[in-house]
Amino acid sequence: MSFVIAVDGPAASGKGTIAARLAAHYSLPHLDTGLLYRAVGLAVLDAGGSLDDGTEAARRAQGLNVSEIARDPRLIDRGAGEAASRVAGHPEVRAALLMLQQNFARQPGGAVLDGRDIGTVIAPDAVAKLYVTAAPEVRARRRWTQLTGRGEVIAFEEMLADIMRRDERDAGRGAAPMVQAEDAVLLDTTDLGIDAAFDAARRIVETKRVRHVL
Ligand code: CDP
Repeated sequence: MSFVIAVDGPAASGKGTIAARLAAHYSLPHLDTGLLYRAVGLAVLDAGGSLDDGTEAARRAQGLNVSEIARDPRLIDRGAGEAASRVAGHPEVRAALLMLQQNFARQPGGAVLDGRDIGTVIAPDAVAKLYVTAAPEVRARRRWTQLTGRGEVIAFEEMLADIMRRDERDAGRGAAPMVQAEDAVLLDTTDLGIDAAFDAARRIVETKRVRHVL
């Protein structure tokens, strides 16, 4: 099995930044799978559809133009995160995005993927699995700083409520719920800056990699 790193965890836990830094460190391609769900949510909204309609959302998922996804600046917005978590609950949507993610993970040489179900569903055989988390208040503060820095107007309390509601929805859904894989290593970044968090992540991955190579 090639060198796949699975990074899962709740909203704004730092998993995306950690995944990107790991990918750069090991020279591996990186897929932020949250962007796929965000793009599906936006596509449904752009077409005037309902986020509750799984069939419609799955159709949008099938029609995703992956090479264009990362170019849409709206994907980072708070509304896109909320829409993503609504469409992500539909099993048809998850099924429509499965192959794309698994093919990405199967690239020769390996890959880094971050999301909610990478270690459990997309790449259960991944060499290293991290479950990145942090206290809700800290996650809300990080996301608030990020979004207000981009000009979004939002109160901190609203941001916290947003994040907690999304966590609950993601963990409580029937299809591929957000959960720590049994063989994932928990990385709590509550008291860690990005450099320290990356360092801890790299050490965890390195231990697994050495064992994998031997
Ligand atoms: O960056 P943040 O943690 O806020 O969210 P994201 O990773 O961009 O994911 C947005 C939403 O997509 C999540 O709240 C999940 O509902 C959904 N998602 C998922 O269900 N499975 C994944 N592998 C990735 C994201």
